[in-house]
Amino acid sequence: VNAWLNRSSILYAGEDKWSVDPRVSLVTLNQEEFTIKIENVDMTDEGQYVCAVQTSLRPRTTSVHILVQVPPKIINLSKDLVVNEGSNVTLMCQASGKPEPSISWKLISSSGDLASDDEYLEIPSISRQRAGTYECTAVNDIDTDVQTVDITVNYAPTVSEGRDVGVTLGQTGVLECEADAVPEADFEWYKDDRRIFNGFDGMEIMVTGSLSKLTFFNVSESDYGNYTCVAINKLGSSNTSFLLYGEYKHTLHDIPRLYHFLGIFSKCVIVM
Ligand SMILES: *[C@@H]1O[C@H](CO)[C@@H](O)[C@H](O)[C@H]1NC(C)=O
Ligand SMILES: *[C@@H]1O[C@H](CO)[C@@H](O)[C@H](O)[C@H]1NC(C)=O
Ligand SMILES: *[C@@H]1O[C@H](CO)[C@@H](O)[C@H](O)[C@H]1NC(C)=O
Ligand SMILES: *[C@@H]1O[C@H](CO)[C@@H](O)[C@H](O)[C@H]1NC(C)=O
Ligand SMILES: *[C@@H]1O[C@H](CO)[C@@H](O)[C@H](O)[C@H]1NC(C)=O
Ligand SMILES: *[C@@H]1O[C@H](CO)[C@@H](O)[C@H](O)[C@H]1NC(C)=O
Repeated sequence: VNAWLNRSSILYAGEDKWSVDPRVSLVTLNQEEFTIKIENVDMTDEGQYVCAVQTSLRPRTTSVHILVQVPPKIINLSKDLVVNEGSNVTLMCQASGKPEPSISWKLISSSGDLASDDEYLEIPSISRQRAGTYECTAVNDIDTDVQTVDITVNYAPTVSEGRDVGVTLGQTGVLECEADAVPEADFEWYKDDRRIFNGFDGMEIMVTGSLSKLTFFNVSESDYGNYTCVAINKLGSSNTSFLLYGEYKHTLHDIPRLYHFLGIFSKCVIVM
């Protein structure tokens, strides 16, 4: 009687099935061939399979070693992170697969100088330039698996320097304050030490993303002065000051010159 064995247990003896595993079935049994089929092979099926053939003289055996290959699958990956600038960050990516997959990391949303060929990617004292999408790739002979992790780096606001604005009485004047910050900054406006709120006489404060605009719809004498914009998020604040000054134009001679008069809040542009 011929038989197929998995390790020491008999799967088939002739056409009698000994295995209780439904994935195992007999394909051919005749003088020349004795073939069985295993469906849905998994890692536990790896190992030595023996075919024993009873000839008229003596039993002969041949064996087959089944090596199971499994495509890579990333099974343990760091979650998306929000950190403060200067934090030490470690990303982890672990993958299963056979042969054992090799792991690599890279930052895909920038020039990509940051890379690693390890399960762990260490980013000491993270800077805002290192924020972005990090990609973990697991590769073996069979296939590739790719997953991504997003890192958000928080930092305190920096406001760009205020530009003084000259406006003629009765005209519209706009002071613009732009802040670079993560998370996005909240803005406060002050005239000298007094806080200005939206809806104050003829003024409007509008915020679009990183830009806050203070608009005067009908500039009066009392609007002229020194304004301060403060940008604030949970990591800190930054401010800049602007002058809103009266501007009068006279055409006198050929060469443009700039004079200051009416204190510091007015400038006189004399076009000569
Ligand atoms: C082979 O034997 C191993 C260990 O007993 C078992 O886990 C596996 O399911 C068997 N495979 C087949 C195809 O019989
Ligand atoms: C993932 O990694 C963490 C840290 O090493 C470990 O505690 C956890 O058991 C791992 N999870 C899995 C599913 O391997
Ligand atoms: C980051 O790691 C360095 C070196 O290990 C350590 O000196 C520093 O205190 C760490 N910084 C933070 C914010 O944990
Ligand atoms: C602007 O303000 C002045 C002085 O308060 C007023 O006389 C004038 O009518 C205002 N103009 C507009 C367009 O509201
Ligand atoms: C405007 O106010 C700020 C803050 O109070 C001050 O630092 C700055 O010197 C003032 N600018 C002028 C021209 O007075
Ligand atoms: C503006 O910034 C200066 C210097 O950073 C600080 O001393 C001052 O208190 C700030 N002013 C406001 C109104 O936040």
